[in-house]
Amino acid sequence: MVDNEIALGLKGRDFLALVDYSPAEVEYLIELAIDLKAKQKAGEQHHLLKGKSLGMIFEKSSTRTRVSFEVGMYQLGGQALFLSKNDIQLGRGETIWDTAQTMSRYLDGIMIRTFGHRNVVDLARGATVPVINGLTDLSHPCQALTDYMTILEHKGKLKGLKMTYIGDGNNMVHSLMVGASKLGVDISVATPVGYEPDAEMVKIAVENAKATGAKIHVCHDPREAMEGADVVYTDVWASMGFEAEQAKRAEAFRDFQVNEALMQVAKSDYLFMHCLPAHRGEEVSEGVIDGKHSIIFDQAENRLHAQKAIMAAIM
Ligand code: CP
Ligand code: NVA
Repeated sequence: MVDNEIALGLKGRDFLALVDYSPAEVEYLIELAIDLKAKQKAGEQHHLLKGKSLGMIFEKSSTRTRVSFEVGMYQLGGQALFLSKNDIQLGRGETIWDTAQTMSRYLDGIMIRTFGHRNVVDLARGATVPVINGLTDLSHPCQALTDYMTILEHKGKLKGLKMTYIGDGNNMVHSLMVGASKLGVDISVATPVGYEPDAEMVKIAVENAKATGAKIHVCHDPREAMEGADVVYTDVWASMGFEAEQAKRAEAFRDFQVNEALMQVAKSDYLFMHCLPAHRGEEVSEGVIDGKHSIIFDQAENRLHAQKAIMAAIM
């Protein structure tokens, strides 16, 4: 499929999960992000969404997502509205359907960060404009797309690389696994017993990997998962909404810290990645996250460029 056919196929679509996008479409979005990043660095105007508005509904906290979407819309010639759930009628019981229908009369796109994934799906069903998943308990596709873009910039390729994810089987690893399966990246995941990724998400990744040859491996041994890693990824032990389990989780995850000793098993030129926010001394040692292999702020920056590509493609 040539690029303009792909571009036509993306207009008006929702961006709820990477599984809804073909490998060629995921690769197209990454290329578009790299192109928009170059334009922005060169000071070239790229007002692809001139006069358009994005609504951003937040039910959870955010630094990167909020700032990057808002600045991204501005750079594309449009504007973004920050809508905290506490300040809109959704927080007082107005239905998702009515919210989606109403907002669609004003906006050209809606981004939502929420708890249950069902909320995003229901919002997309009720909206007549594209809806973007800005994180749910199940997935974080904007971050995963950004992460593969960042790896490509650093390694010059994606196919055949091995990513290792150590820690909680959460929203982040779900999107990374599906992304890996679409892009031909091998992924090896190690979690404590009882904190495995969702079985359905593993199944989806395994199914999609058949087309790209990616290997999907889930285990409980960090050293086994780390063997020969090109990219090492971790995330917090207690995600937003799971704060009450912090102490119990700290105990369960004790042997799952990404630290200098564990990194001995990775390739010598490994990249360290974290979606942020991070807890130094918990899921990752200070030496690793602040060390020379860490590319965490390239990831954070690329949220801007990757989301501009998503918005420009679908809105
Ligand atoms: N990585 C990420 O989504 O960061 P925020 O929670 O700050 O948006
Ligand atoms: N897994 C983390 C990611 C934050 C960007 C959370 O959901 O809190």
